[in-house]
Amino acid sequence: MIVFDKEHTVFTLHTQNTTYQMKSDQYHVLLHTYYGPRVSGGDLSYLIQYADRGSSPNPNEAGHRRDYSLDTLPQEYSTCGVGDFRLPSIEFEPEDGSRLADLRYTGYELRKGKYSLEGLPTFWGGDEWETLVIQMEDASTQMLVELYYGVLERYDLITRAVRVTNRGAAPVRLRRCASVCLDVQRGDFDLITFDGCHTLERNLNRSPLRPGVQSVESVRGTSSHHHNPFLILCDHSADEDHGLCYGTALLYSGNFLAAVERTQLEHNRLLMGINPYHFCFVVNPGDSFTAPEAALVCSPCGFGQMSRQFHRAIRENLIHDPLQGRRRPVLINNWEATEFTFNADKLVDIAQSAAPLGLELFVMDDGWFGVRDSDKSGLGDWMVNQEKLPGGLEALVPRIKALGMSFGIWIEPEMISEDSQLYRAHPDWALGAPGRPHTRGRSQLTLDFSRREVREHIYKDIRKVLDSADISYVKWDMNRSLTDVWSAALPADRQGEVFHRYILGVYELLDRMRQDYPHILIEGCTGGGGRFDAGMLYYTPQIWCSDNTDAVDRLRIQYGTSFCYPVSTMGAHVSAVPNGQTGRSTPIATRGVVAMSGTFGYEMDLSETTQEEKAIIKEQVAFFKEHYDLIQLGDYYRLSNPFQDSYTAWEQVSPDRREALVSLVAGPARAATPFRILRLKGLDPHLTYQVNGQGSYPGDVLMEAGWPLPIPQGDYQATQFYISAI
Ligand code: DGJ
Repeated sequence: MIVFDKEHTVFTLHTQNTTYQMKSDQYHVLLHTYYGPRVSGGDLSYLIQYADRGSSPNPNEAGHRRDYSLDTLPQEYSTCGVGDFRLPSIEFEPEDGSRLADLRYTGYELRKGKYSLEGLPTFWGGDEWETLVIQMEDASTQMLVELYYGVLERYDLITRAVRVTNRGAAPVRLRRCASVCLDVQRGDFDLITFDGCHTLERNLNRSPLRPGVQSVESVRGTSSHHHNPFLILCDHSADEDHGLCYGTALLYSGNFLAAVERTQLEHNRLLMGINPYHFCFVVNPGDSFTAPEAALVCSPCGFGQMSRQFHRAIRENLIHDPLQGRRRPVLINNWEATEFTFNADKLVDIAQSAAPLGLELFVMDDGWFGVRDSDKSGLGDWMVNQEKLPGGLEALVPRIKALGMSFGIWIEPEMISEDSQLYRAHPDWALGAPGRPHTRGRSQLTLDFSRREVREHIYKDIRKVLDSADISYVKWDMNRSLTDVWSAALPADRQGEVFHRYILGVYELLDRMRQDYPHILIEGCTGGGGRFDAGMLYYTPQIWCSDNTDAVDRLRIQYGTSFCYPVSTMGAHVSAVPNGQTGRSTPIATRGVVAMSGTFGYEMDLSETTQEEKAIIKEQVAFFKEHYDLIQLGDYYRLSNPFQDSYTAWEQVSPDRREALVSLVAGPARAATPFRILRLKGLDPHLTYQVNGQGSYPGDVLMEAGWPLPIPQGDYQATQFYISAI
């Protein structure tokens, strides 16, 4: 619910459990007054204190009043170079070369429903949303800045976005434009970020904020394996079930900056948006620039609730699921089994072994096109390699379908190999600066996706492939960071737009594919989890979580990922052991338990699997299908922290709380294992439950007294308990 108090120019945004407020003051400065647990309302600007702070300047309108400074007041959207020395949200460079921005409130608009942003991903929905647009202006440049707010009350979700329009007569260079600025009038917080690298993505890092700026960012052209565009600010004491926390996710898959500044007043400013690194967008008179959307969830009672609210909103109001409520297929992918070395018979062999085990979708990974026997050639030539697949997909797909399976295919549209027909014809289509040699990544170059004609060409070829057979799944891969970012299609003064235009190009093509092939499930992939972000999820309902399929490493990767993103978005497969990334061998039961808390599939040569393993796989698949709704759509509870505890446990609970599944993976075996008890969560204290079909245990007993953990025999043993109300 959005309430406007006209007399005091106060805007209050209420969600089910939280309240957010801002106010335009006597100088039309837009102050942020509150964000936190739901309160009844009123004008909360009494919380703001005014005092002279030595070197903090005063705006012109304040005359000689020294207790009024943009440097100390909580700002709704911070300015630049006119007295606020904290992190700036926006910066204008008009023709005179000044680099300032001074914003004043000029008006608002309130409407039912959710705004959308042209060319960018956003949360969506109907009248369960409300939209507020706040208008502000920089009088000198005549730049109009519109702050967009979307409120989804039931999931405590507040979205923000910014549109900047040049209402002046001369071009203005936009040098920064954050999506969200949040001034929290408290300082005692921890910052949690999700960091890592290729094959070890989204490991949780938590530390108390100290004075100054702490930030994570990407300058790789992708949101990156290294830092996720999602962070949490929280009480020092916050845990899964207690404490105030603010989660902020950016719906953007390119360079981002997420920064928190602990200020001289021991308050915090959180800023998130496109990274100003190599960013400079020319906004001509009459034109607009739109900054991507950010989404905020505040939880007054710990990370668990924050995550569950994000999960629900992402599942129901962000992704576009082509299967619309129907179960997604359990898949088998040939990559780890064959890499580039396969032919049609080998693929059919794998599919033949998979079908009787209940696997439903066969995914043909990299290597099927052009001349592609290694990662050094072929990208850009999206024609079926007739030597490997004689007769093309027209011949292969019916063979797979005859086994009762559907068919999926891998593509990497953004890339080009120097050894390809496409590169020989269009060398200038690769990103690269004049007079400089190309920097290779995985031996490949990046196509200039900021150029429409490049995208058109690639899409035309890919469409021919997609139209040639019955294809129900596409894995859209992308395997390098962007370098040599310069576009032959833009003049020198617009080269600062290329990073952003590149990602807009990716979004445009994904959106077209999504709309042209509404039945196709698109899985995102960026060398694993290099673009696991809320922006991508709008187009690709699931994303390959990591190239690391080792079940033990995956426990941490999936744990970190779960803080924002739901199980149903996390691509996860069982692969062969010893694992290709770590050399570790884990039991097949463990690999299954870990992968089924993701989108679930297999990535191994099932034609070489033992009968005993096949029997286990068959059971796993049947169990997953039986409990699909609970596992994929249930409320998710983290029961331990794999970075600290000797075991990893998590639980999914059905919305009516009549069913739950507890999954647990023990650590390396040790002698004299301590006897441990696990307390369950999310059950109905007044219902009585059976555990694995036995006994009778009141919900409060299972949650307060708990359940004894089995004593593992061997390394990394997994167990699952199915809990059902009697
Ligand atoms: C990287 C992906 O993450 C893998 O799953 C696989 O598709 C390879 N690329 C293929 O080149």
